[in-house]
Amino acid sequence: MPSPNLRTFQNTIDAYKTKLAEQSAQIQDPKALDELRHQFLSRKRGYVTILLEELKTFAPEEKPTAGQLVNALKNEIQERLEALEARLKAPAKPKREIDLTLPGEKRYRGVPHPIRLFQREIEDIFLSMGFSVEDGPEIETDYYNFEALNFPPHHPARDDWDTLYITDKLLLRTHTSPVQIRVMEKQKPPIRIVLPGKVFRRDVPDPTHLPMFFQLEGLVVDEGITFAHLKGTLEFFLKRLFGDKIKIRFRPSFFPFTEPSAEVDIECLACGAKDPECRICGGTGWKEILGSGMVDPQVFKNVNIDPEKYSGWAFGLGIDRTAMFAYGISDMRYFFENDLRFIRQFDLK
Ligand code: DAH
Repeated sequence: MPSPNLRTFQNTIDAYKTKLAEQSAQIQDPKALDELRHQFLSRKRGYVTILLEELKTFAPEEKPTAGQLVNALKNEIQERLEALEARLKAPAKPKREIDLTLPGEKRYRGVPHPIRLFQREIEDIFLSMGFSVEDGPEIETDYYNFEALNFPPHHPARDDWDTLYITDKLLLRTHTSPVQIRVMEKQKPPIRIVLPGKVFRRDVPDPTHLPMFFQLEGLVVDEGITFAHLKGTLEFFLKRLFGDKIKIRFRPSFFPFTEPSAEVDIECLACGAKDPECRICGGTGWKEILGSGMVDPQVFKNVNIDPEKYSGWAFGLGIDRTAMFAYGISDMRYFFENDLRFIRQFDLK
């Protein structure tokens, strides 16, 4: 049986524990915490010090039990003070209500635009033939867009290439052909390059026209280059793109920067050359996809390449228009309406 002295001692300790629990629930700031520490642990008048002094009053056989009770209290006080200190130091957390019944947020992965995918497909075919890829500015000078390409001021051929002028001499380029000049100014033959990019014209949108579209220019310059190289390369390219059975025709045409010039048509893949009212080919069964020709000697002179020594051929392909046929799309405008249901279908890989 514990002595009455030990029982009273135990009760006092329990009372301190209750007091500790009640007071620590009230602590909101470091000052109150210090007061609490002082009250319980102060060397002079703290509760623990007083209890330790009382140990002297116990008979030797009860001293260890009483000592353990004081130690247990001391540990509990220290743990509580540490926890309170940590709580006061922690930054206040903003309250965030999470409603677990709401549906999750779905993130969509981006995909390259179909025109970009198709442009890469074309570039890959030319890269496999030893061409390299370059580009040039979308805002061009009158000199590169027209004059160096043999369109003198007021030449009637300029009418077909009307565009937005930024100043009298700066304009949104109407074709990728000016990049031919920029490349030939800094690079001497042999040249074998393709030049993709955005171009602008005063065209009214319809299924096969847009005021902004993409072209891919090609240029080959070397000694002994003939029209046969032009024809062979373009035929190879179009067969790789559309398959061996594709019908192609070369039609004589005019461009100020090539002589002779030809436009290349492919059979209308929209109607299979069967619909006399087809909105794509207008019932002709053919659709023009590129212009081409042998580089005019005057263009070579403009960039200081000797036309007696070198010859070359060039072409400019409408990427969007060709993509329409490759993907079986009936209207070029779909490409730029930004309807994600349309765009996402082209994430082929
Ligand atoms: N630049 C011409 C156009 O936009 C296309 C073209 C024709 C490009 C003949 C060429 C070429 O390089 O040789 O209609």
